[in-house]
Amino acid sequence: MDVAQAIARRRTVRAFGQEPISRQTLTSLVEAARCAPSAANLQPLEYVAVDDPALCQQVFACLKWAAYTHPVGTPGEGQRPTAYLVALVRPEYKALTGAAYDLGAALMSAMLLAVAEGLASCWLKSINAPHLTELLGLPPELEVDSVLALGRPAEEPVTVDLEPGQTGREVIKYWRDENGRQVVPKRALQSILHWQRHGGAASRGGR
Ligand SMILES: Cc1cc2nc3c(=O)[nH]c(=O)nc-3n(C[C@H](O)[C@H](O)[C@H](O)COP(=O)(O)O)c2cc1C
Repeated sequence: MDVAQAIARRRTVRAFGQEPISRQTLTSLVEAARCAPSAANLQPLEYVAVDDPALCQQVFACLKWAAYTHPVGTPGEGQRPTAYLVALVRPEYKALTGAAYDLGAALMSAMLLAVAEGLASCWLKSINAPHLTELLGLPPELEVDSVLALGRPAEEPVTVDLEPGQTGREVIKYWRDENGRQVVPKRALQSILHWQRHGGAASRGGR
């Protein structure tokens, strides 16, 4: 699978097969995150990889899934992630460059490699960080940012393009269709790509 295919195939998945993920694969995902760009090359991120089934259950209890369709979208018994990468950040570095950019770049690399490895993910920011901090025995110089839930995909969400001009907080909400399939609205390309200047005739491009 090439990069373009991995980008196109990556969807947030919230139902997983129960085959374990190998340590080698989990390590390769962190290696992908490690290779990502870092503002001022500060590299403020670390990761706790969790694949112990009992600990996975405890991590699961710290996560909130699919706010727009809740409780639908929360993985049921037998559909839960089989591993997690818990992303940690050094708080004193956040003030310098904002670690959010580093996190986005690093976790996207991990998510795309996961797709290429036949896995799927859900990146979660709605988490019980204090509980995770205690659960994972974190030292005071590191804080939990977010969690990458991982597993073999057991659902295939799809995207639909919004009409140009369709905007607002309601239209961007993902939903479940009549077959229970997750549908994710994405802004249309012509709504977000502007050639030379924003709007106007020149924005049509056309070479
Ligand atoms: C920073 C960030 C935080 C997110 N947090 C959550 C979360 O807490 N729970 C959840 O179920 N999904 C979460 N998501 C997944 C988004 O809902 C999902 O990316 C979005 O609906 C678009 O779907 P797609 O990833 O399939 O393109 C998060 C995504 C991002 C980028």
